[in-house]
Amino acid sequence: MMDKVSASTRGKVILFGEHAVVYGKMALVASISMGVKAQVEESGAADKSELVKKAIEVAGGDENIQLRIESELPIGSGLGSSAAVSACVIKAVRQYLGEPVDNDELFQLTMECERLAHGNPSGVDPACVVYGGLIAFIKGQPFERLQIKNKVKFLLVNSGQPSESTMQMVEKVADNSRKNKIIEEIGEIAILAKEEIVRERDITELINRNGLLLEELGVVGLKAKKLSQKLRLMGAGVKITGAGGLTTGSGMMIVVAPDFAKIKELLDNSQIDYFETSIGES
Ligand code: PMV
Repeated sequence: MMDKVSASTRGKVILFGEHAVVYGKMALVASISMGVKAQVEESGAADKSELVKKAIEVAGGDENIQLRIESELPIGSGLGSSAAVSACVIKAVRQYLGEPVDNDELFQLTMECERLAHGNPSGVDPACVVYGGLIAFIKGQPFERLQIKNKVKFLLVNSGQPSESTMQMVEKVADNSRKNKIIEEIGEIAILAKEEIVRERDITELINRNGLLLEELGVVGLKAKKLSQKLRLMGAGVKITGAGGLTTGSGMMIVVAPDFAKIKELLDNSQIDYFETSIGES
């Protein structure tokens, strides 16, 4: 056994199709440069979250194993924090045990952890965290890797940490009597968006259509709605990314625009956190 090992994973953004993906529609998802690092070490944290305990268990590690985990991903904000932490811990523990894990097994084991965090996850988060890049994902099917030559820049704007879990938001959608129609439309947009992204065309309008449908679906809170409206008036494409949230915040929002200068100025003046990232890197 090695005595000091480390692993890393990246977070993700859902560009199109969250929630509809639970109902068998396509989601487009991309890994981002921010992520998680885990190190097995003597002085690691003895206190562990349920998720970390589960990840150690599915990796076949001893429950007393000590880990130092560093994450750049805000928890529960739609950037795949739980999948990235689980996958990273599983990788580190299996390396420590001298039995490195391949991607297919890592996906299955991360799914087991996601079931603890999310109930009945579609698998979109583990797929992106484990395999990386830009992918078109349909639940239960082999996913498709998309290639683009030029990076697509966008802002991730923090609308506040949601108080609701992904599971709660998925249940909320299930209770929406108009969900079938909305989900159909989101599914159609994802198919169009896939073509536009591959052809490297502008996706501002499609981002807005998907964003507004998520508002209709009832997963976007007032604060995020108001901010989206303001930014749309400035010519931006805006949608939440991930499960969303209602009472406190709705997590991260994707903002695309030909020019970010004015948008950044507004966000700075309103003291709203954001960072610039891009897709198109594997
Ligand atoms: O956990 P989040 O916030 O990245 O959202 C996951 C995406 C959902 O479609 C809402 C749920 C799922 O399991 O696909």
